Amino acid sequence: MKLLMLCREPRLYSCQRLKEAAIQCGHEMDILDPNRCILKLMENSPHFDVYYQPKDGAPYLLPNYDAVLPRFGTASTKMGCAVLRHFQAKGIYCLNKERAFLMARDKWESLQILREQGIAVPNSQLSGVETDPKMVIQKMDFPLIIKTLNGSQGIGVMLAEKPQSAVSILETLKQANVPVLLQDFVEEATGEDIRCFVVGDKVIASMQRIGQEGEFRANFHRGGSAQPVLLTEEEKQLAVRATKALGLVVSGVDLIRSKGGLLVLEVNASPGLEMIEKTSRVDIALQIMLYLEKMVQS
Ligand SMILES: Nc1ncnc2c1ncn2[C@@H]1O[C@H](COP(=O)(O)OP(=O)(O)O)[C@@H](O)[C@H]1O
Ligand SMILES: [Mg+2]
Repeated sequence: MKLLMLCREPRLYSCQRLKEAAIQCGHEMDILDPNRCILKLMENSPHFDVYYQPKDGAPYLLPNYDAVLPRFGTASTKMGCAVLRHFQAKGIYCLNKERAFLMARDKWESLQILREQGIAVPNSQLSGVETDPKMVIQKMDFPLIIKTLNGSQGIGVMLAEKPQSAVSILETLKQANVPVLLQDFVEEATGEDIRCFVVGDKVIASMQRIGQEGEFRANFHRGGSAQPVLLTEEEKQLAVRATKALGLVVSGVDLIRSKGGLLVLEVNASPGLEMIEKTSRVDIALQIMLYLEKMVQS
């Protein structure tokens, strides 16, 4: 197959591993930055041409690929999804479709969809821009989590210990036009969560993530570490249900074992491979390639 990975940073561990796996399976893979793509729509033509303008060269028409793997970060969601949709319109298989990818990148919309499907999430609140921060926190418990709607890698997730600090953070973000959601802090998580890597209808790898000393965020990019974890059948099923609820086929589901039961924190559409491959010793890149072969060649 001729594969395309949409990614801004080909040297990242995850991109390297996916490319290695593609080559190992006898496929070719281009890694291109969606922000260097040029999309065309023409009056009456059925073509959805995509051109690519390399760093030091003129744009050229991209060939037909057998499949596209979206791996772009939150800073490129909009253009990345536009490129993804163009390839979908050409009838090319995309490993995570544009709508699902876009939905997963919006933390509030994802929580709404998860709840619509009966999946438990932490108590959360979204307040309109005209609301008063002092009023909207009145019925919330403290400490309180404040999250930007499209952060990642732990950035944009804040913990306000007291109402006064929540108000000052909310006023600042309001002034800067940054929309946020409020969420109950799940205390018993104590900087730990479970990452489930889902491909198709299976959890293929998992790990328990542990935040750095004094850190409530368990993310790898915030200095967190990881250890192997055994998932219950219920946990596996929940991760797959959450993935399907958002319409994704590849995802990283963050779960918390709270005293009231399992909670889904979020579902990532482009989950990192490094920490989870090293912890679980599962060749995730290869599993993704095998799944892709099954989907494209069947
Ligand atoms: N409501 C919460 N209660 C306790 N810990 C939380 C809560 N929300 C997030 N966290 C911690 O912060 C981390 C990052 O939050 P998350 O919503 O997954 O954002 P990101 O997309 O940046 O990873 C989580 O992995 C978890 O460790
Ligand atoms: Mg997360």
